[in-house]
Amino acid sequence: MDLTAIDEYALAHTTEDSPIIKELISASEDDLEYTDMLSGRLVGRLLAILIKVSGAKRVLEVGTFTGYSALTMAEALPGNGQLFTCEYNERYESIARHFFNKSNAGSKIKLVMGKALETIPKLEGSFDFVFLDADKINYPDYYEMILPRLESGGLMVVDNVFWDGDVIHKKGEKAKAIDKLNNMIADDKSVEQVMLTVRDGVTVARRVD
Ligand SMILES: C[S@@+](CC[C@H](N)C(=O)[O-])C[C@H]1O[C@@H](n2cnc3c(N)ncnc32)[C@H](O)[C@@H]1O
Repeated sequence: MDLTAIDEYALAHTTEDSPIIKELISASEDDLEYTDMLSGRLVGRLLAILIKVSGAKRVLEVGTFTGYSALTMAEALPGNGQLFTCEYNERYESIARHFFNKSNAGSKIKLVMGKALETIPKLEGSFDFVFLDADKINYPDYYEMILPRLESGGLMVVDNVFWDGDVIHKKGEKAKAIDKLNNMIADDKSVEQVMLTVRDGVTVARRVD
């Protein structure tokens, strides 16, 4: 997505990505026709800080793409942390696996291939941090499926909650689905949440019950 002047300003005042993550971004740009699915450094550094301050140890990510946010979060996790990341596209998988294998933090990552709505129920245990960033049309279903497995005090971070502003007029099926999730979270007494005007909108919800 196009960056605004204020995005550029924010990026200029935000921590750089690690050398290997920069390499991953370049490789993604070289190999693929488009890379606008990358969540980007503003979201990436936000995820890294949230992982560190929350003390998260068991992370679930929906939507790996080429591994930018997975590797960013894995770098922020402690040595005994674990991150499960869901993807179904084999072309993106090969780039992600290359960089997970190359990075020291990659040993904390388990890449789960297949449709996430089918693979997540097969994963065992609960999570203390979730990053939802794929399959927007099914965002409400992921929330219902994953929230019961989010530990009390755990965080769920949702990307693209503005869908380029289309949620306001509910333009298109994806915008309708994202707006539905935004309303579900706002009405859900089991979470407290903040919707941040970072990039395409990022919600941070914390389970309170
Ligand atoms: C927005 S991208 C993820 C970007 C990534 N989090 C990052 O920051 O680099 C969404 C990814 O989810 C994948 N995806 C879409 N629907 C999916 C599904 N139902 N199950 C698993 N992966 C899916 C797409 O192939 C795409 O790579």
